[in-house]
Amino acid sequence: MLEVSDLHSGYGRIEILKGLTVNVPAGKIVSLIGSNGAGKTTFLMTLSALVKMRSGTIRFEGKSIEKLPPDLIVRLGIVQVPEGRRMFHRLTVEENLDLGAYTRRDREISRDRQELLQLFPILKDRLKYPAGHLSGGEQQMLAMARALMARPRLLLLDEPSLGLAPKMMEVVFSLIRKINQKGITVLLVEQNAWRALALADYAYVIESGQIRLKGTGKELLSSAVVKHSYLGE
Ligand SMILES: Nc1ncnc2c1ncn2[C@@H]1O[C@H](COP(=O)(O)OP(=O)(O)OP(=O)(O)O)[C@@H](O)[C@H]1O
Ligand SMILES: [Mg+2]
Repeated sequence: MLEVSDLHSGYGRIEILKGLTVNVPAGKIVSLIGSNGAGKTTFLMTLSALVKMRSGTIRFEGKSIEKLPPDLIVRLGIVQVPEGRRMFHRLTVEENLDLGAYTRRDREISRDRQELLQLFPILKDRLKYPAGHLSGGEQQMLAMARALMARPRLLLLDEPSLGLAPKMMEVVFSLIRKINQKGITVLLVEQNAWRALALADYAYVIESGQIRLKGTGKELLSSAVVKHSYLGE
């Protein structure tokens, strides 16, 4: 579904991604793990065209998307849940959700909202609350629900478990699986390597802007390098 080849990208004169090649097959969960500063967020931002790529190719469902602006990428179905959730704190939960549908012109937005709330029951009782009053875990759910309002085909998740208590983390990871079971392909970036690999069909390890290892989630869970550097074994 997504074929990224030899991708270079960065900020100003600094090159961060140094020839990244990553494939995400349709219907799967692909995880990308790596330490702080490895370039994970830069990668997702480059896919969303929020950071400009320098060279390489990005194909989505067979079509080159390197030159498309961010809103058209969302319209094609590549939707990101950014690191740190980024909601509009003064707007209500409901208003934040509807903003997720800003690229849509169809009339099924409120029906979709109703349907989504089945998946996120916590949000249902809080529709009229300002988003800023939600807990960290609730905000993560709102961020995910907002992204789903755009009807993604490929969902990009940047550190969805960051800063959450173990119980909430559990809820978030089980939601990711449910979202995938609805037919949405997932590219997940995580520092919680164990969980990300356990959930993934395929996974990559990124180090200093390059892919160090790749394999199935299972393979990487049993790799010596991963165990040593990312699982603390
Ligand atoms: N806007 C920016 N301008 C300049 N440098 C940046 C910018 N954003 C990130 N960087 C640098 O790019 C490198 C990669 O950062 P990035 O945020 O992609 O890493 P990451 O893997 O997501 O890390 P983390 O796990 O901490 O989220 C870092 O050295 C960072 O300092
Ligand atoms: Mg990051």
